[in-house]
Order: sequence, then C-alpha cells, then structure tokens
Amino acid sequence: MPGIAIVGAQWGDEGKGKVTDLLAEQVEMVVRFQGGNNAGHTIVRDGEVFKFHLVPSGILYPGKTCAIGNGVVVDPRVLTEELDGLRRRGVDTSGLRLSANAHLIMPYHVLLDTAGEAKLGKLEIGTTRRGIGPCYADKAARLGIRVQDMLDEKILRKKIMAAMEPKRPALRDFAKSPELDLHAITEEYLTHGHRLEPHIADTAHLCWDALGAGRTVLFEGAQGTLLDLDHGTYPFVTSSNPVAGAACVGAGVGPRDIGEVWGVAKAYTTRVGAGPFPTELEDGIGRVLRERGSEVGTTTGRDRRCGWLDLVALRYAARLNGMTGLVLTKLDVLSGIETLRVAVGYRHPEGARFDEFPYHQSILHTAEAEYEELPGFEGDIGGVRREQDLPKEAREYIEYIADHLGVPVQLIGVGPGRDQVIWTGEQPSLSLRAA
Ligand code: IMP
Repeated sequence: MPGIAIVGAQWGDEGKGKVTDLLAEQVEMVVRFQGGNNAGHTIVRDGEVFKFHLVPSGILYPGKTCAIGNGVVVDPRVLTEELDGLRRRGVDTSGLRLSANAHLIMPYHVLLDTAGEAKLGKLEIGTTRRGIGPCYADKAARLGIRVQDMLDEKILRKKIMAAMEPKRPALRDFAKSPELDLHAITEEYLTHGHRLEPHIADTAHLCWDALGAGRTVLFEGAQGTLLDLDHGTYPFVTSSNPVAGAACVGAGVGPRDIGEVWGVAKAYTTRVGAGPFPTELEDGIGRVLRERGSEVGTTTGRDRRCGWLDLVALRYAARLNGMTGLVLTKLDVLSGIETLRVAVGYRHPEGARFDEFPYHQSILHTAEAEYEELPGFEGDIGGVRREQDLPKEAREYIEYIADHLGVPVQLIGVGPGRDQVIWTGEQPSLSLRAA
C-alpha cells in the first residue's frame, strides 16, 4: 500500500499539522522530509495546546513511529528541548526516529542567517532566522555536519573546523562570540549526540519496511509550495523543496511509493515574510482575517499578511504536487463576510492577462489579481460535521474551488479543535488502513 503525502499548497501555515494529526492515528509511520524548525504546528488535543517545530505531530499517539527524515535540517538544541518538553507533559516519545543522514543546524548557521538578512536590509527575505538557508547551503557545498557525526568526536571536530574555515570573513563580527568556540561547539554537539543516540536510525529503511509490509506511511511536508526553492516565489522562498516530489528524496522512497497527495490550503491566503502576494488585503477585511484566524506565526510570532484565496496560485500548486485531494482549512474564518472574492487571473499593469501562474518575477511582483465574486455565508459553522449542513453559499464556495482546480475536496476545517472538521468523501480510514 503506497504512502500519502500531506503538503502545503500556499505559503505555509495552512494547517498541515492538524491534518497529519487526524490521519496519523491510522498510519504505521509519519515522516518529515524537509525543512527544519522554521516550521511550526499547533495541535489542540483535549483542550491542551501543543506546539511542534521538529517532531512530527504523530508523536501524540503513544509509540507511533515518527521519523525526522534525511531531508530535514535539525537543530539539536531545539530537538532536545522539544523532546524534554513533551516528556514533561507525559507524552511517550519512544517512537521518534532521527535519520543519521539529516544535516545539523550549527550555531554559525543561525548567526549567518541573521547577518545575511541584516546585510540585505530593505531587500531582506524575512527568514525565520533559524539558520535554515545557511545549513542547506553547507549541505550542497558538502561542508555539512550530519546527525551521525555527533557520535564520533574526531570526525565531528574535523568537520566543524572545515565548515567554519571558509566562513571566517562573514563571521568576523562574531569572532569573539562563545557561540563560535570550536571546543565548546564540539562538546555541546557530542552531548546532544549522546542524548539523541537512542533515536538515531536508518529512517529510509524504516519506510521501506513499513511500505513493504503493506502499511501506510504519511509523508508530512513543512512550509508550502509557493515557498519552494525551485517553484516558489524565488528568492522569497525557503531553502528546501516543500512539494510532494521532495518526499522521495527527503525520506528515501521512490515515486511509486506515494499514492495520494493531499494539498492543504486555507479558505483564504496568508504569507509570512517578504515577497509577492497578489491577493493581499491591506484593508479592514485583511484585519478581520488576521484577528479571526489568529494569524500570527507559531515560530516567530510575526503577524501574517492576509488576503483572498488565490486560485491561480492554487492550481499551480495542484499541478506541481500532483494533488489527488484538497484539504480546505479555516472556512469558519470567512463567515460573516458579505461577498467573497477568489482570484482567477492576474493582470499586468501593461494590460496582459495571465490565467496561469507567471514564471517571470517582474510580472508576479506587479500583477494585480482579477477576481470572481461569490456570495458569502453567515453564522457559526464550528459545530457543523456534515457538508450538507453547511450554509448553501459555503457549499457553493467549496464547489467553485474544487471545480476550478479539478481536485476533490477531502476535508474541510471549521474551527481550531481536532474534531472541528468535515469529511466530505469517505473517511480515509477505509483506504488508509494497512492491507
Ligand atoms: P527560512 O525558511 O527561515 O529561510 O525563511 C524563508 C521564508 O520562508 C520566509 O519568508 C519565512 O517567513 C518563510 N517560512 C519558513 N518557514 C515557514 C513556515 O513554516 N510557515 C510560513 N512561512 C515560513
């Protein structure tokens, strides 16, 4: 039985964590395949709020195998803190597996991320400043330090030295920082290695075993398609590939191992950080979305930029990911807005119209969205559990989206609680259960 990939279809923060959490119960294993602690999931379970940055949210099921795949970049300080926090709250973390091949975020990566943004000034990307970009850069330059290196003092010291050497000029301002002391870094990372050793594993092998036994593996994406290093709004993107295809590379499986791809999108759009956003709303409705949707970043606490749903961008995401299903989250946030708008095209200031997501950055930066208007709906839909019980206008809104994308809607979110969802088709337990 093949796996299922859950990916972000917009600029991240679509509510993937909740979907993963809902499906995790029924799968053998959950594996993250890219990104790092730039991600943040909030899960509300029995009124308790859990915030995750690195650990897959499936960890809340005792003993469930939750893997951090080779494609993830891991800050071991953050991981050990997250694990300690979960254990203090009585969560069984024994199912966590950490790929020996995953790359480590080092203290100098965090310093370089911050320094790089400062240097860019007004042109900054608005990164999470967690060292993500510099860590992936070192991986590509073959100067990265991997999880397995923490288990061998000699190798670790040598590799840290080699990785720091070419960075000296860029790190000059921090030369005296204790963060950059070779001995201190080595000692600290050896300690992390010692603590994390029981979790370190060949996570690709674990995926093959599960898939080979006919079990379902859930590949949990972080960030979103429009932040993809290759396909997103470059350079205002992250340094990994959040699209479904990256699950193969970042977890170590083949394309045929992924049978279902669910893209997660909000019923509107948000974005954190800088970069083009054709449907952005800077008026009262934007503020309403921010307030009602609690649109503040889990990781950085920054206000999210808010706007109308962008079907041009969403259709692009559907194709890039080979989406087989759409999950539409936060539909409740739109309640009470008299007229809903969805972007169906872009207009360039010089007149050209685009039905498809334009590849050219200057078009995207100056394009204005062209909208279709749909009647809004009213009332509290937080208690609705069947699609037919939604207001007619809400159903029409969902149908319009599914038709435009040519992708069926599988799940609709109507509130922050775990149970505040509507399954539109057959509940996946039937198709996802192990054969
Ligand atoms: P980085 O991933 O920290 O390098 O940041 C690059 C861009 O991706 C910035 O615009 C961030 O705000 C954005 N970003 C990174 N992770 C997330 C996420 O989990 N949700 C939303 N935006 C993100």
